[in-house]
Amino acid sequence: LENGLARTPPMGFNNWNSTQCRPDFDEKMIKGIADIFVARGLRDAGYRYVNIDDCWALPSRNAQGELQPDPKRFPGGIKALADYVHSKGLKFGIYTSAGTKTCNTAGFPGGLGHERQDANLFASWGVDYLKYDNCNNQGVDARKRYKAMRDALAKTGREIVYSICEWGRTDPKVWTWGEPVGNLWRTTGDISDNWSSMIGKAKANRVLAQYAGPGHWNDPDMLEVGNGGMTATEYRTHFSLWAMMAAPLLIGSDLRKAGAETFGILENADIIALDQDPLGRQATVVSAEGGLVVYNKVLADGSRAVALSNENTSTATIGTTAAALGIGGAPSYELKDLWSKATRTTTGKISASVPGHGTVVYRVTR
Ligand code: GLA
Repeated sequence: LENGLARTPPMGFNNWNSTQCRPDFDEKMIKGIADIFVARGLRDAGYRYVNIDDCWALPSRNAQGELQPDPKRFPGGIKALADYVHSKGLKFGIYTSAGTKTCNTAGFPGGLGHERQDANLFASWGVDYLKYDNCNNQGVDARKRYKAMRDALAKTGREIVYSICEWGRTDPKVWTWGEPVGNLWRTTGDISDNWSSMIGKAKANRVLAQYAGPGHWNDPDMLEVGNGGMTATEYRTHFSLWAMMAAPLLIGSDLRKAGAETFGILENADIIALDQDPLGRQATVVSAEGGLVVYNKVLADGSRAVALSNENTSTATIGTTAAALGIGGAPSYELKDLWSKATRTTTGKISASVPGHGTVVYRVTR
């Protein structure tokens, strides 16, 4: 969507993957995350959006038909929370559904038929990002539903990143019509905190590179890094692949409980730089034989990022060449390993021994 926003993939936080609708999803948590974003330097590393997901509202609208925050979770209301987040130099995001109700079975009111009223309310609260889900959509064509909210957001005059959460489930596929409608669109169902879910999302998303670019990104769902269901090696693969695929980097763990290992992954500035590269190209797959996958991301300065990703459980050598990455012909190349930070030179062969479920990422420069 050419609304001037999301020129690089959105980065930030969303509570869903860590709390879902449990009571620990509340005002205190969201403020705590904003505080950590500033104190740890995550804001300055690029993480800007602090977003709340489903279950923030009461089950019914008020007498004026407006959505109401749940006073148990958000005693200060949403406006005050957004103000707090803004006071930290951050942006604030919210969630609702392009249906009569949201996705949680408790059934909070959705935006279908209320687009103008809800968009205006969000703008009056200072919302900077809307995740618009797809549940309870009454069979209305997705293009119609998502355009209605796009237009309502535009009419508010406020800059609001628009995240389409349609999951790529219905035809025509959202990536074929999403570019003029949203800033990002989900390409997959919900991620869960395990290897097979995560790598399944990567496989589904990596074939869609042609649809991504500044202002309009493929979204294979939010990060699970730090939630405990994968090894550190697997989380590094998760983070590496999301950056290679120019995916949104929305932290999905409760950072108030995160340890050094989690922060070490989320704060890897060299990997973040791949995600945020201004050219905005999603990596393409060079080869994927036998679960040994080579990804190639063209970067703005003409260099390449290459990810050598081992989807099997035992260590394997994965290799490619500068020529295969489209930068052949130079006498030599510098390879920087973006996790170990080691550098070396090569005349063109690029390979590494990669542990099971691991990923080696090099920045390759002529
Ligand atoms: C859907 C979305 C999730 C989350 C939940 C909330 O499943 O895909 O990301 O927002 O709804 O109920």
